[in-house]
Amino acid sequence: MIASERGEVGLAAGVDLLRAGASAMDAVEAAVRVVESNEADHYVGVGGLPNLLGEVELDASIMDGATRRAGAVAAVSGFPHPISIARAVCERLPQHLLLVGAGAERFADEAGIERGPTLTDEAVQMWRRGLSAAGIDAAEARHGPGERAYRERVLERLASMPVPGGPWDTVNVLALDAAGNLAVGVSTSGYPWKYPGRVSDSAIIGAGNYCDNAVGGAACTGRGELAIRGTTARSVLHALAAGASPEDACAAGLAETLELPDDFRSPLQALCLAPDGRHGGASTIAGASYAVMTADDETFEVRKRRQV
Ligand code: GLY
Repeated sequence: MIASERGEVGLAAGVDLLRAGASAMDAVEAAVRVVESNEADHYVGVGGLPNLLGEVELDASIMDGATRRAGAVAAVSGFPHPISIARAVCERLPQHLLLVGAGAERFADEAGIERGPTLTDEAVQMWRRGLSAAGIDAAEARHGPGERAYRERVLERLASMPVPGGPWDTVNVLALDAAGNLAVGVSTSGYPWKYPGRVSDSAIIGAGNYCDNAVGGAACTGRGELAIRGTTARSVLHALAAGASPEDACAAGLAETLELPDDFRSPLQALCLAPDGRHGGASTIAGASYAVMTADDETFEVRKRRQV
């Protein structure tokens, strides 16, 4: 299994399942759930930073390389494990692939997925601090005549913001099971202060997630709008299919996005796992890494990503 930064906390749970003969889909879901439960990770699941109204909205997707079936959800509130809703969409609502907002939440209830709080006190404090630093009063977020002006100021801040202190990070988990099947899972709370209803690449098959046993699995973290415009996960796999190594394929997918005009550019990263177990990653920033753990390992190892 491989995972993006902060995904390493879930690898042991996934690898334990693989050792017991579970599928790559099971391993990916289990690993992503651990990351979603980690309150110290402020870009995924519980503890994720909220949108401009102060509400946590989560996106996730999962794709099965054996069938190229996928499930995805976006802008989901009140459920700590969007990856499990995405998997339920994939397996129990196969006439659809992507559900958003209230419809996704309704389906999650019907599927028996657990509800739970996602907004933590620490995330609220971080959200408020970011606004105060820009001279914006968080109390205007919902009420009063200042609401529209508030939104405009927050969106201006988003446009002028440098790369934030913590990485903008989403989690990617990619697994290869004993039967040779690949699966890819992605989960995120998206940009802090994002406009309500914003959907990231993490929920878009082809952009933030793609998986095909015949070629490989790929996933992205970082500026989702670029990965959507570049269909980056699929681009990485086109390069892999053309003979590139997993690392070169990630670099090629990211290089395409560097050509896209973007006034709000922030880092974009890609990871790739080949059907023979080779793996690699690339990033538009220096010093980025990913984690790898196999059934023979007691713990994960950290590998460098190539800078593009
Ligand atoms: N890649 C996650 C996001 O764009 O929010």
